[in-house]
Amino acid sequence: MTKFGEHWEKGFRDLVIDAGIKAIGDAGLQGNEISAGYVGNMASGSLIGQEHVAALIADHMGLNPIPVTRVEAACASGGVALRQGYMAVASGMHDFVVVGGVEKMNDLDTNEVSQILGGAGDQEWELFMGATFPGLYALMAKRHMHEYGTTEEMLAAVAVKNHEHGSRNPYAQFQNKITIDMVLKSKVVADPLKMFDCSPITDGAAAVVLAPVEIAKKYQEQPIEIVASAQASDTIALHSREKLSEIKATQIAAKRAYEMAKIGPKDVDVAEVHDCFTIAEIMAIEDLGLFRKGEGGKATLEGRTGLGGEVAINTSGGLKAAGHPVGATGVKQAVELTWQLRGKAEGRQVADAEIGLAQNVGGSGATSVVHIFKRV
Ligand SMILES: CC(C)(COP(=O)(O)OP(=O)(O)OC[C@H]1O[C@@H](n2cnc3c(N)ncnc32)[C@H](O)[C@@H]1OP(=O)(O)O)[C@@H](O)C(=O)NCCC(=O)NCCS
Repeated sequence: MTKFGEHWEKGFRDLVIDAGIKAIGDAGLQGNEISAGYVGNMASGSLIGQEHVAALIADHMGLNPIPVTRVEAACASGGVALRQGYMAVASGMHDFVVVGGVEKMNDLDTNEVSQILGGAGDQEWELFMGATFPGLYALMAKRHMHEYGTTEEMLAAVAVKNHEHGSRNPYAQFQNKITIDMVLKSKVVADPLKMFDCSPITDGAAAVVLAPVEIAKKYQEQPIEIVASAQASDTIALHSREKLSEIKATQIAAKRAYEMAKIGPKDVDVAEVHDCFTIAEIMAIEDLGLFRKGEGGKATLEGRTGLGGEVAINTSGGLKAAGHPVGATGVKQAVELTWQLRGKAEGRQVADAEIGLAQNVGGSGATSVVHIFKRV
């Protein structure tokens, strides 16, 4: 992956090429051995005026004439691209597939970016009426607080932990530590969410190479196996949901993923979850069954989700501190878990990490994709 952050000196294509070349090199391959590519990208047309980015990437990475396909599923674009790549290999159609994710978001100002990201919800019924993504997640936070007694301190504890993890990750956008008090005193974005409850606006790219396990072993000393891939959908608009305090698509995708991997939530050593806002991490760890419903906030405040806790959540710094270049996030989760399972997450390594889980959400939960990774 590239470092996540503000890349004023690099263009969209530079970012994705940097990440892609690193991934192909790590896999021990030459570019001409790759037979297909998938790229997660949410909104390059609106953000940088460039459509047809799969062709752009194939061209500038020297991948022509192999098929390269863009995958769009809002902030889950990267995770869904990974799943498409996984299925292309699992089907026997391709042996070596490169999966990338990329977004360049800083060329526009915050208002314009908010408007574009808002298109991941229901344009007519939400965005047009003034509901931005911080607004939608604020509604979920309010409901979670009402139902389970979750507090603003518990939300803040997610940000404090993720900044602590980010301070150990040289690829993270924010590497500064923060305190609960700093979070609580930061400016209100959409009550009860404050500036430090939000993921930032980020440029960055990430990439991985997929291959059948037996073939991968011949090229890489430490290949990591994808033992489950599951995806589920729910209503695009929040007002149509049965409950606002959970993401049902995550619950369904997680159930399928655990069945496919033949493991349960207790077996997960390390997880990268979709903390676009602090409340999203609390809902994620509950919906994934890592903690009981309503207990995610308390568990976070008690330090049970940090390094050395029961299950380490977002060792990369998560979306909050590592940054959230929307189309790249799902692939970056796979990169972080690969480092963790290889024992190469220097400074933030989870001891003996054997099983990792990634959960990537599109919009306010209309798409959720869960992958489970295992040391081979
Ligand atoms: C929170 C948010 C509104 C702040 O935007 P902003 O008010 O325009 O902030 P600016 O870009 O002017 O940044 C001001 C400072 O705060 C920092 N900052 C910006 N966002 C930050 C965040 N989320 N967390 C911590 N610091 C942040 C900047 O680095 C900058 O620091 P500096 O002054 O030291 O350079 C914006 O980051 C945002 O909209 N986030 C949500 C993105 C989103 O919805 N993603 C999709 C989720 S589904």
